[in-house]
Parts: sequence; structure tokens; C-alpha cells
Amino acid sequence: MHAPRHFLQFKDFTLAEFEYLFERTRWIKERFKRYEKYWPLEDRTLVMIFEKASTRTRLSFEAGMHQLGGAAIYLNTRDSQLGRGEPVEDAAQVISRMSDAVMIRTFEQGIVERFAGHSRVPVINGLTNEYHPCQILADIYTFIEHRGSIKGRTIAWIGDSNNVCNTWLQAAEVFDFNVHVSTPPGYEVEPERAGLYGTGHYEEFGDPMDAARDADLVTTDVWTSMGFEAENEARRRAFEDWQVDADMMRVAKKEAVFMHCLPAHRGEEVSADVIDGPQSVVWDEAENRLHSQKALLEFLLLGKVES
Ligand code: CP
Ligand code: NVA
Repeated sequence: MHAPRHFLQFKDFTLAEFEYLFERTRWIKERFKRYEKYWPLEDRTLVMIFEKASTRTRLSFEAGMHQLGGAAIYLNTRDSQLGRGEPVEDAAQVISRMSDAVMIRTFEQGIVERFAGHSRVPVINGLTNEYHPCQILADIYTFIEHRGSIKGRTIAWIGDSNNVCNTWLQAAEVFDFNVHVSTPPGYEVEPERAGLYGTGHYEEFGDPMDAARDADLVTTDVWTSMGFEAENEARRRAFEDWQVDADMMRVAKKEAVFMHCLPAHRGEEVSADVIDGPQSVVWDEAENRLHSQKALLEFLLLGKVES
């Protein structure tokens, strides 16, 4: 048995593979919009393990698997043995003998790595404390749909250097674009945790306005990620000046788009007039989770297919 491919962090795939995935995403999306049945994953099963809450990730994987002719099974920590201390390695052995792919949303990246190390089938990271690769897969596809190639562009990341930020930074090294990051003091990027090669594709700015200046894309995320709720109050104070608002969008390029992985808190990390305004592409971004992950599932389960 040869080792399966996994998607545990963004840099697990090459630029050529992402380009292939985007081509397939476009094809799968167009067919889906025309109500044309496409069932390449008939009789295949995806197991989805959630140790944190989700709307988009669960829905897009579950609906996507059904739309490809397969089935999806939802497990969570509360009502499976996972929450009662069964070793991750044992769970991986068993779950991967009964399914064709596994998606995991959990806490430390080490958990998905250990699971993948003992899995017979592809494992997809559906968000960890460190990374959210499926999100950036959809985000870059969305950017390209709206604005064309992302190579050489400037992405402004405003706020917490969290899992979504780390994944943008990895993606910058793969796609050769620049990320201008602005975080409050004490919340700066940790390059090692972000898993960077250090190719100089990001720059940090003390003032979020400087990070947003002339950007092609301005993006942010919640001030407190899942699992860090105890820090909520301290973060609310620290991040006060890191809201993406109309003034910040004004210093970005005129044709800049705004993205947010969602769920969003209007009045905290983003003002209502920005997220609900004309530059916002957040609903396309959310929808593209579905199409891009269908391409990902197809690739991991079937390899490259002819369009
Ligand atoms: N963006 C995202 O992953 O959303 P959910 O937490 O709802 O899955
Ligand atoms: N950074 C957020 C993303 C949610 C989709 C979190 O981890 O909670």
C-alpha cells in the first residue's frame, strides 16, 4: 500500500497542483450551476471529525460529497470515543479502514499530523490552531475569479496572526505574492509556527493603514479564534484599532476586494459598511469553499482526471 496524499497545510501542494485544482474547480462549479450530475465519487465515503464548531466547513464538505455521488459522515468529540481519550493513532487506523477520506477540524496541528501518519486514506485539515488550508484554497480561487492572477499582488492582513493568517503566508510563498501584515503588539507573526520557508513574501507594519495602503485585497478575521476564548477581553482591548473600516479600504487600491473567512463580528474586526459594501466578496468566498473542496476531494481520491 503506498502512502496516501494529505492536505494538512497549504505548502503540501505545489503551484502546478493548485493550478490544476483551480481548473477543476471552475469545471465542477460550471457543471453544478447547470444542474448537470457529476458523480465521480459514487460509493466513496468521507468521514468528518469536528472538535470545534463549524457552519461552512461542515456544510461544504457534506454537501460537496453528496453532490459528487458519495456520502459524508459527521463525528464530533462529544458523542464519539474521541472525546473519551481514545488515542488519535487508534482512531486513525479504524476510521481509515471504513472510509475513503477523512477531514478533521481540531486544536493542535500535531493531532492531524498524527492522524495522517496512521491513516490509510487521505486526510484533510479542516482547521487547526495553526492553519486553515481549505479556506485559502477558496480565497485564492475567489480572488482569481474577480481580479485575475494573484502573482505579484499585495494582500493586506489586518488583525490576529492566527491560523488563517499563517495559511495566507504559506500561500504567498507558493503563489509568489506579498502579504502586508499588521497586528497589535504581542500578536505578531511567528514564522516558525506559520511554517514558512522564509522567502521574504511578507512584511509587518505597526500601523494597519500602512499595511492596507495600495493593497489588491484587504482581509481580516475574528480577534479571538476558537479555543482562545479565555483571552477574549484582553484581545478586545488590544485589537480595538485593528478594525477594517471604510477609511482603511480608501487607502487600498480602488479596485481592491475585501475578504473574510466568516463568521464575522461587525463592529469588531470589520465595520458593517465594508463587509456589506460593494468591495466585499465574502459570499462568493464562502460559496467557493464548496466548489474548491469538491475539486480537492476529486484530486485526493482519484488523482488527476481529464476535463
Ligand atoms: N470559514 C469557516 O471555516 O467557517 P466555519 O467555521 O463555519 O466552518
Ligand atoms: N480564526 C478562526 C477561523 C474560523 C473559521 C478560528 O479559528 O476560530
